[in-house]
Amino acid sequence: MLSREALAIQEAALAEVALAGDAETLAGVNRKYLGKDGPVGALHASIRDAAPEDRKRIGQEANELKVAIGTALLERKQALEELALEAERRAEGFDPTLPPARIRRGSLHPVTQVTRELEDIFGSMGYAILDGPEVELDYYNFEALNIPADHPAREMYDTFWCDSERHLLLRTHTSPVQIRALERMSPPFRAIVPGRCFRNETVDASHEHTFHQMEGLVVGEGVTVGHLIGTMKTFLREVFGRDLEVRLRPGYFPFVEPGFELDVRCPFCADGCSICKRTTWIELCPCGMVHPEVLRYGGVDPERFTGFAFGLGLSRLVMLRFGIDDIRHLLAADLRFLEQF
Ligand code: DAH
Repeated sequence: MLSREALAIQEAALAEVALAGDAETLAGVNRKYLGKDGPVGALHASIRDAAPEDRKRIGQEANELKVAIGTALLERKQALEELALEAERRAEGFDPTLPPARIRRGSLHPVTQVTRELEDIFGSMGYAILDGPEVELDYYNFEALNIPADHPAREMYDTFWCDSERHLLLRTHTSPVQIRALERMSPPFRAIVPGRCFRNETVDASHEHTFHQMEGLVVGEGVTVGHLIGTMKTFLREVFGRDLEVRLRPGYFPFVEPGFELDVRCPFCADGCSICKRTTWIELCPCGMVHPEVLRYGGVDPERFTGFAFGLGLSRLVMLRFGIDDIRHLLAADLRFLEQF
């Protein structure tokens, strides 16, 4: 609590601060009240002659006044500066009362949206999310996946080669990361690998030179086809919000044995629609039990461990999900398309 005298000094000072219209006047007020010969200084000086029991109170009062007046001076100075700035802007034709320009919010690319959703689902099932190089060695893309140089399965992959010796290529699938994972992680483990893949193909509504896949790999003791089916059903339930029937057909890939094509009962119709081509089944992904030779290439003992793998066509899943009829939209970077998501 300030004494009456101190209060009077403060009120007089604050009134002058409020009236000051420029920096010079403010400096004058500062000098007048806070200067050596001003009332605050005098209050300070009076401590010397005061009774000992009053000294502490007077000292505190003087300090309180100094802070209050000093703060008011600073705030007024800033307010004056802002006013000056605004006056300057107005003079330049800037009108602060106009509504702001509309802010255009961006959105995530549909492939990014689905990728993140799948990462959440598989992440919650204990899967690690892995990455691998897009420029890959022939060894990882083919050789170690049980596709040697003369293997006819190479014909499935129209490859962009990066060198004339054909050691380096743009990966044609995310499967090479299976080998990289086997080399680095010790079983049991589960992992998914979302990523870009490349094929030297003629581009049309369902083929792009660049597209997305998501590889899955689970390795451990006693892993079976039952685990594969259960995993896919769980994942589909998360994506579509209900249980969907699945079926396995035989499929051939050199890096799985047995290999399958996994189909899912069409979630969009009951008795056939254009999406399932009137069959009520939609091809979801190829998959299978990891070939013992592949485990061996990755340094894992196939006598002790087994595993399953799957290769989700991420681009295709995005198209299904959003009803996109031409894969070329995904990479065209056309804002009219992208703004819909
Ligand atoms: N990598 C294969 C492709 O792109 C797809 C694939 C098939 C992946 C079977 C797998 C698998 O993991 O088990 O053609």
